[in-house]
Amino acid sequence: MALTEADLNTLLENGIDPEDAGKYRILLENLQGNILRGHGRDYSIHLFLQFRTDLREAVKEWIETFAREYIKSAKQQSDEAHLYRSEGISGGLFTNFFLSRNGYEYLGIEPFRIPSDRPFRLGMKNDDIRSFLGDPPVEQWEDVFQCQIDALILLADDHFGDLLYVANKIADELRPIAEVIHQEKGFILRNKAGQIIEHFGFVDGVSQPLFLKRDIVGARINNCDFDQWDPRASLDIILVRDPSGKTEDSYGSYLVYRKLEQNVKAFRKDQRQLAQTLNINNDLAGALIVGRFQDGTPVTLSDIPTSPVTPTNNFNYAQDQAATKCPFHAHIRKTNPRGDTGTVESSPGFDEALEIEKNHRITRRAVSYGENDSTKEPEKDSGLLFLCFQANIENQFNFMQARWANPKNFVQVNVGPDPLIGQPEGTQKWPKKWGESETEEYKFKLWVNMKGGEYFFAPSLSFLKNLGSLGFSW
Ligand code: HEM
Repeated sequence: MALTEADLNTLLENGIDPEDAGKYRILLENLQGNILRGHGRDYSIHLFLQFRTDLREAVKEWIETFAREYIKSAKQQSDEAHLYRSEGISGGLFTNFFLSRNGYEYLGIEPFRIPSDRPFRLGMKNDDIRSFLGDPPVEQWEDVFQCQIDALILLADDHFGDLLYVANKIADELRPIAEVIHQEKGFILRNKAGQIIEHFGFVDGVSQPLFLKRDIVGARINNCDFDQWDPRASLDIILVRDPSGKTEDSYGSYLVYRKLEQNVKAFRKDQRQLAQTLNINNDLAGALIVGRFQDGTPVTLSDIPTSPVTPTNNFNYAQDQAATKCPFHAHIRKTNPRGDTGTVESSPGFDEALEIEKNHRITRRAVSYGENDSTKEPEKDSGLLFLCFQANIENQFNFMQARWANPKNFVQVNVGPDPLIGQPEGTQKWPKKWGESETEEYKFKLWVNMKGGEYFFAPSLSFLKNLGSLGFSW
């Protein structure tokens, strides 16, 4: 029997167990991997495609063959991870295939079968979307992102040589039917302790919504049974029914892709300047910007880094409602207020119950690009290939960027924008001493520049594998 709405919006005690999935089995076999859980490979290559004119049937055949040969389902991803844990056999190459609205139209999919999310239909270059997000004019984006993009192929592997070989092979196979207009090369950056970091040096990817049993059971141990923050999430914040899916339990997810360049040198200089202005040490200045120290210690819990092996995610801001420890504008407090919207006295229009606030969560799958020596301080050409999955772009990524990160009045009046990703830049109030209420104003310039991006949909496998004449035609 097909899954019901209740199956999607129920918060399961231990999440879904792909090894014993019960009624979710068909969903997991039909859903692309990397959505409910990251693929975990060290290297990625992203191929941006433009289909050649008037080759619809050939393109459909190609996608179908590619899906049958290469794309791994959520179930396969889990089986491979199991094999790796039990026998050390690596899953090797991982792939995803995504379509933009243009891609769907090229394939001749009827309008009512194209995923209906408004931003997805409009595209990231649309003026309304761009001005809502505060993005720079499209003419300032990298050339390739100014072009029409029909599809995106994500390839990932732990061996860069193997990955490059496959990427070239696929690009060759694509040549008759599509132009690879651009490639991005991403990688996992690590600190000396082996933790995943981003270019400014902070541990990244700590706080995520969790859907699967293994992730939930693992996190519970480190996070005291989630007594301060429950990261579990129901499927309805990440999956939507694929309107083109062939079977009833065909689901997909919207992917937001943004190339975010980081000016590391300027960030470090401003961090030192902030430390001097507030007369605090450099580590604490960084933690006030991000909301966590470089090692992941939440600044609302401590004014020094505590070198955790696994940073805690079991905290909220109930004991810091005046934001004297973690500023309201700190990146992680802006992008996940953990209940602030229902508890602190918020600006008009920003108040929500925790349960509603949690529906804005996104599932991040970012990787770094550019300089891979973390001791260097690049000013340009390095940054984050920011990818996130969700069920509703308007209510999740776009909401987070435009209604929380950018406005100076979220969650209270004159808090200022998120200093990492707020657009445009603005002035923030910084605590002069950790835990005390006196503040000092300080304005940064932007260290993160949006270089372009697009909205995509990750279609179900039942759609992709039956697109050409091998399967069924529309
Ligand atoms: C270059 C740009 C960015 C950098 C350097 C950055 C860095 C970080 C770091 C260091 C963390 C803390 C570790 C963690 O919990 O994973 C974090 C968390 C987070 N970031 Fe970003 N980020 C960037 C862009 C974005 C964007 C564009 C968004 C969405 C609009 C975003 C949303 C989040 C969210 C939701 C969290 C988790 C907050 C929590 O649950 O506590 N980030 N980011």
